[in-house]
Amino acid sequence: MSENIALNVPVHVGIIMDGNGRWAKKRLMPRKMGHREGAKTFRTITRACKNMGIKYVTYYAFSTENWARPQDEVDAIMDLFEKYLDDVKSFADENIRIRFIGDRSKLTPSLQQKMADVEKFCEKFDSLDCFLAINYGGRDEIKHSVQEIAKKVQRGEISPEDIDEKLITENLYTAEAPPVDLIIRPSGELRLSNFLIWQAAYAEYYFTDILWPDFKPEDLEKAVKSFSDRNRRFGGV
Ligand code: FPP
Repeated sequence: MSENIALNVPVHVGIIMDGNGRWAKKRLMPRKMGHREGAKTFRTITRACKNMGIKYVTYYAFSTENWARPQDEVDAIMDLFEKYLDDVKSFADENIRIRFIGDRSKLTPSLQQKMADVEKFCEKFDSLDCFLAINYGGRDEIKHSVQEIAKKVQRGEISPEDIDEKLITENLYTAEAPPVDLIIRPSGELRLSNFLIWQAAYAEYYFTDILWPDFKPEDLEKAVKSFSDRNRRFGGV
C-alpha cells in the first residue's frame, strides 16, 4: 500500500475483541461459534499489525467480569485459549512475541503452565509484541500495582514520597510496553470497559460497527489511517 509511506503508524494498539456473540446470533449459531471465528480474526489481525509496522498490540480477550457468563461459554473461551497455546509454536517463524496480562491465579493450572511455556518459547521473538489480556481488569491491574508498591514501602525499600506516576506504571502488567496510542473497539459499543484505563490516558479511539469476526486487515488500515490523520497534543497546544 503506497499510502503507508506517509502514515504515522501507532506504536501500541489496543483492541477490544467485541461482537462475537452477535455475529453468531445473526447466523443462528451458538455464541461459542462467534468466539471461534473471533480467534481466527485475532490471528489474521495480529499478522496484519506486524505487516503494518505496529510494534505492540494488546488484545482484551477475557475480562475480570466475563466470569459472569454462562459456564459453557466461559469453558468454550478457555478451550480456545488452550488450543491456541497448543499450536502457537508452529507459528514460530512469524517471530511474534506473545505475553499475557491479567490475574492468572484464577485460571486452571494447565492453562497457567501453557501460558508460562509460550512466554518462555517466544522470549526472543521481536517482530511484534503481542499481549493477551486474560482475566484482566484495568482497576484490578492498578490495585495490583499499588499492592506491589506498598510491599516495597513496608520493606523499607522506598518511602511514600517516592511513589510517582512512573513507579505506578512500572508495576503494571504492561510495564514493558509503551503507553497505548490507539484503542480499536468494533461492534458499535462506545466504551473502554475497564481496558488499559491507566495506559490509555492519552490514547486515540477508533470505533466501528463491524463485529469482531468480520474485522479485516483493511479495517485495521482504516483505523491506523484515522489515527494518522489526527493531531495529538498531549495537553499542549
Ligand atoms: C466479546 O464479544 C468477546 C469475548 C468476551 C471473548 C473474546 C475471545 C476470543 C475472541 C477468543 C480469543 C482466542 C484467542 C486465541 C485469543 P461478546 O461475546 O461480548 O460479543 P457480543 O457483545 O456480541 O455478545
